[in-house]
Amino acid sequence: MDQPTGYNRDPAAEQPPYLYPDYRSTVLRAPKRPLVPLPHTLSEITGPVYGHEKVGPLDHDLTRQHDGEPLGERIIVHGQVMDTHGRPLPDALMEIWQANSAGRYRHDADNHPAPLDPNFSGGGRCTSDADGRYRFVTIKPAAYPWGNDPNAWRPAHIHFSLFGTAFVTRLITQMYFPGDPLLDCDPIFNSTADAAARQRLVCRLDLEKTEPEWALAYEFDIVLRGRDATPMEG
Ligand SMILES: [Fe+2]
Repeated sequence: MDQPTGYNRDPAAEQPPYLYPDYRSTVLRAPKRPLVPLPHTLSEITGPVYGHEKVGPLDHDLTRQHDGEPLGERIIVHGQVMDTHGRPLPDALMEIWQANSAGRYRHDADNHPAPLDPNFSGGGRCTSDADGRYRFVTIKPAAYPWGNDPNAWRPAHIHFSLFGTAFVTRLITQMYFPGDPLLDCDPIFNSTADAAARQRLVCRLDLEKTEPEWALAYEFDIVLRGRDATPMEG
């Protein structure tokens, strides 16, 4: 008799572990003792709640936050947020942050000698609509060195944070671009052991949503839980 689909799947291999020695900073931060579950308090479960009114009309467009346009390749990043059963998740607050087209973050801790762009802050947010869909306009980020070893450069990526209705429902992940040669040697990407799960972190070139002569589109769906869950960092 055939085994049911997914019989041999290892759920632990589909999410990155706390400790992954090739990703050196996990050695310092991974818990060394068993986790102690703490009961949630009422305030953790119920608030704060983010409403639509807190997200500005241009917050989803990282190319229109300053007087001029940022340098680099303009792209559209869109997709759908879904729950365990593939149902769309509306009203999720989504935040992204990323390096600019030269691989530099606008952050005091970023010492990479690549230029900052006065027209690019690298942060955006939106809420998913009634069908769980979201859309950002931004600039394709570049790779940057990160000191894990002398030749360690992060593949181009966009950080995603999703909030439900409370702090305890925050999830964080990273989106990568298809065909990036740095993916094979990136310990953060490869800390998710399961190859199929890793591919859920790679967006898809979407020519249907591309706006001709203006911006290529990439599709990145996010599944919060279940067998098709997107690997999450926290
Ligand atoms: Fe990053």
